[in-house]
Amino acid sequence: MSFNRSGLPGWTYNNEELFELESVNIFKKNWQLACHESDLPEIGDYITYDMLGERALLVRGQDKQIRAFHNLCRHRGSRLVVGERGNCKNVIICPFHAWVYNLDGTLRGPSRSETFPLIDRNEWGLKPIELDKFMGFYFVRFQPSNYPKASNILERHKDKFELYHTDNIISASKISLSESLPINWKTVRDVDNEGYHVAQAHPGLHDLYGENYWDEDYHYWSTVSVGEINKKPSKLWTVKKYRKILEQLEEPYSELPRQWLYIGIFPNTVFGFYPDSVIFYQEIPLKYNETQIRSAVYKRSNESRALKALRFLSGRIDNSAVEEDNQLSVWLNEAPRSSAYEGSFFSDLEKGVRDYHDALRTMLPVIGLDEPPDLGKIAVTNAELLAKEN
Ligand code: FES
Ligand SMILES: [Fe+2]
Repeated sequence: MSFNRSGLPGWTYNNEELFELESVNIFKKNWQLACHESDLPEIGDYITYDMLGERALLVRGQDKQIRAFHNLCRHRGSRLVVGERGNCKNVIICPFHAWVYNLDGTLRGPSRSETFPLIDRNEWGLKPIELDKFMGFYFVRFQPSNYPKASNILERHKDKFELYHTDNIISASKISLSESLPINWKTVRDVDNEGYHVAQAHPGLHDLYGENYWDEDYHYWSTVSVGEINKKPSKLWTVKKYRKILEQLEEPYSELPRQWLYIGIFPNTVFGFYPDSVIFYQEIPLKYNETQIRSAVYKRSNESRALKALRFLSGRIDNSAVEEDNQLSVWLNEAPRSSAYEGSFFSDLEKGVRDYHDALRTMLPVIGLDEPPDLGKIAVTNAELLAKEN
């Protein structure tokens, strides 16, 4: 297999100015997975999604429709709802001066409305955010771009979403947000975009599927990785038990492939399809050197005891893997600061990392430069490089 086996230059993991460029071009202009429809089952239920100063509010209206707005009062910009989820009853009331909005975003009225003699309510509704839906999952986009919609990208994986009935799963617990980790967001991707480390770094996953793990090449903004569950006896009790219960599953779940399947969508989200559950995880960049991991687990709407036991076990196996990956990310992120660091040298099994870097370079060619441009020059240099390519 022939491909360029080097990674991104070290400076790209440690540069505030580049981070600003990434924030807009990689994150705000691409689709962000916000939630699954089962995260907001009732009228008035909402979830929030904060990213890089933007704040989305997804709320289920009286007509049961889910809509997305900026979580920003039109009066003076206060947050309208607080926390990551909740229910706002029949209306959204701003906690600052109590402007009242309907669940469809229209302004019902300002408090002391006589003090706003000229207000036209039709013009002061909440600002909508672009929303996209695919098989039960909702995506938002904070800034317009020509990049494809999430539903477009995922279309080629539709049979998988159907197989796991993602339009009929329900949230198993709240969407969770990790502590902030001292890492650049790309480090999370670099660890996650290859299976080479599974054998050494993830005893649980290796025991479960390490013998038979493979990736497809990155294609049209998405990736596919598959861990076929091992046939050899397991060493760990969690895996042993998981496999035993899996063998006893009844139809229709007995028909599901004996694998853990991962589908990644650019730039930062991975779905996991397991016989017992569907999960997602995504990195949320906070600063160039700070990142959180947001994740959720969904269960079957008619979950049997066996499925519940399996989901408990897969959760345990996954929790260990998350901790292991977080540690690897921290170490990887520290590496460029060592004077001995000479970058990466990828195996065939790490081609996914390189492919992802290539996707980043296409979008932001400045990322490919060996040395950072002079201070204040990153955006200009990037624009020049883009112009040269076109
Ligand atoms: S900021 Fe919302 S009512 Fe004043
Ligand atoms: Fe990992």
